[in-house]
Amino acid sequence: MGYLKAVLILFCSLLNLGHGRSVPIDPYWPGDHDLARFDIHYETTPGLPEGLEWNLDVWAPTAPGSYPVMYYLSGDAMGIAGEAYEQVMRHIASYGYVVILPSKTTYLLTPEKKTPEFVKIMSWCEDNLEDFLYQNQLPTDVHLDYQTLIGGAHSAGAHTLVQYLKDNGCGRFQALALMSPVDGVDPFVDWYYNEWVITEGERLNFDIPTLHIAAGLDPAPGGPQHLGGACAPTNQSNDWFWNAFNENSVRWSLNATDFGHVGLCDKAAWEGNTVIGWCAYNHEATDEQFDAYRRFVAGQTVSFIKAVFEDDCRPFINEIEDTSRYIVNATMRRNQEPKTCPHPVCRWRPAIHV
Ligand SMILES: *[C@@H]1O[C@H](CO)[C@@H](O)[C@H](O)[C@H]1NC(C)=O
Ligand SMILES: *[C@@H]1O[C@H](CO)[C@@H](O)[C@H](O)[C@H]1NC(C)=O
Ligand SMILES: *[C@@H]1O[C@H](CO)[C@@H](O)[C@H](O)[C@H]1NC(C)=O
Repeated sequence: MGYLKAVLILFCSLLNLGHGRSVPIDPYWPGDHDLARFDIHYETTPGLPEGLEWNLDVWAPTAPGSYPVMYYLSGDAMGIAGEAYEQVMRHIASYGYVVILPSKTTYLLTPEKKTPEFVKIMSWCEDNLEDFLYQNQLPTDVHLDYQTLIGGAHSAGAHTLVQYLKDNGCGRFQALALMSPVDGVDPFVDWYYNEWVITEGERLNFDIPTLHIAAGLDPAPGGPQHLGGACAPTNQSNDWFWNAFNENSVRWSLNATDFGHVGLCDKAAWEGNTVIGWCAYNHEATDEQFDAYRRFVAGQTVSFIKAVFEDDCRPFINEIEDTSRYIVNATMRRNQEPKTCPHPVCRWRPAIHV
């Protein structure tokens, strides 16, 4: 079996060499990498080095290599545990990325107050995570490339991540993927807290290649019988971010019209869950359609990351821009000329308030 696999891999690499370029991928199905999965609980996991105060879900390729790192900030400003995003994160990592998803349920810290926490988490990871994973069976020839960071976020996780980029000179982030981003503290009590990363009429003080994916039902009322509020009200999400991005950010915005705010999470995580299951969702969609939506979100994210980092961006841009190839109903708009290749760089300048 091992021998057969080795022969097949050799055979495939020869084919690759023959082409002289990378073989096109089908981004809507998982990639070739076998993965190791780590579920680290800061209070209970044995042998953790000091200083970690958040849980970490980690998906890492197991073949020798150095892999770009994607930090993914989950919904509820990092309040939703990584298990809820299992399918999408696994799919992204299977294309050769390490995904790190920090989370903790804490309602005492608002999204902005979590930005310094995120700084501490990243610093803990750089100092400790590789060694800890090696002690827990990750092969020691797998390396986490912290020089190549991709930022990903869902819902109010985007508030924290965008705040980080705004306050920290971009850090080492070179690409940004935001799913149904939400500003403010939450859709229900903002009148009390009033904390925003975006100011109306002002552009953000950095430009970075960006993929934005909205869900069509983000602004629809949720809760029992749709009597509650929207999980992503129009005036604090999606276009609120899209319009604030710096004009120089090469960026795409997709709108998956048939799905709701937490449709990218595994169905088991939100079905019947009164907290995250509150959001409006498509009651008609079949399990296959929900599965297609998660594969769409993951597949578009992979195409976007590859468009940013691979030498030949064109096949990947094509996956983003050619809506006839989509596996769910969705619209697409962009800020730049068609087929513009993004560069892996974030340019930052001090914020100027008007
Ligand atoms: C996405 O599409 C839905 C349904 O057509 C619409 O209600 C919503 O406003 C759109 N969202 C964005 C950000 O354009
Ligand atoms: C968003 O709209 C709601 C309802 O109209 C309003 O109460 C709220 O103040 C608005 N928020 C912002 C930031 O404009
Ligand atoms: C797109 O929407 C149409 C109209 O609602 C529906 O008939 C069709 O099945 C949808 N396509 C996909 C791929 O879900």
